[in-house]
Amino acid sequence: MNKIIRKVQFSEKVYRFDIEAPLIAKSRKAGNFVIVRVGNKGERMPLTIADADTTKGTITLVVQKVGLSSIKLCNLNEGEYVTDVVGPLGNPTHIENFGTVVCAGGGVGVAPMLPIIRALKAAGNRVLSVLAGRSKDLIILEKEVRESSDEVIIMTDDGSYGEKGVVTVGIEKFINAEHVDRAFAIGPAIMMKFCCLVTQKYNIPTDVSLNTIMVDGTGMCGACRLTIGGKTKFVCIDGPEFDGAQVDWDEMFKRMGTFKKAESEELQRYNE
Ligand code: FES
Repeated sequence: MNKIIRKVQFSEKVYRFDIEAPLIAKSRKAGNFVIVRVGNKGERMPLTIADADTTKGTITLVVQKVGLSSIKLCNLNEGEYVTDVVGPLGNPTHIENFGTVVCAGGGVGVAPMLPIIRALKAAGNRVLSVLAGRSKDLIILEKEVRESSDEVIIMTDDGSYGEKGVVTVGIEKFINAEHVDRAFAIGPAIMMKFCCLVTQKYNIPTDVSLNTIMVDGTGMCGACRLTIGGKTKFVCIDGPEFDGAQVDWDEMFKRMGTFKKAESEELQRYNE
């Protein structure tokens, strides 16, 4: 059982949790994730670690209410307990001094992007960040991202904050203004696919962090398998980050939709 030390509401459906997990806080690196369960029969939810405080022994997770399991988690309050938190899992992000990097985060994807931005900055990169969301209230962690970025562009679909337009407009703006050596994109799968299509035009290698369905998180069950570069890979142990140009996006969309019907039926039962 892991205690919720702090809960902050970022927007209508997005919450930040600081959860007691001292050993994970001590050993996690940028790119690592945990698998969280609410209730003994709860679904296992992979969530990337956004931050950690080794003094307090907490890890920070940013969660969006999208399905039954995330709703159950978001309904927990400070002082209550998450049934279990397993991690850190997955490979850390490959960080080095690439030169100039563009980091694009969409919606809650900004949370897993934050430790990567910090690590890239600490490694000496010039960091250009794009934060994107549907509207102003869905732009999260702006202050923290600005602290570790050389420049920041904010894009909102409705123009309520920053510039009006999608994330790829911001990415292309940076690419057209200066030489970019590498890119990172984290957000909804469709957003990452389009980020990669843009960066591929300019031959910029782009890493994406895949958030597939997971069960054990240790390479045993196969729930997270995907075709990357023509080979079967397990996102939990081979990833979660991959070269976006190698990802079979159509397969990813198909696999992510596998349990949609069962999920909505469960959600309906929960709401009754
Ligand atoms: Fe089971 Fe990856 S989650 S193999």
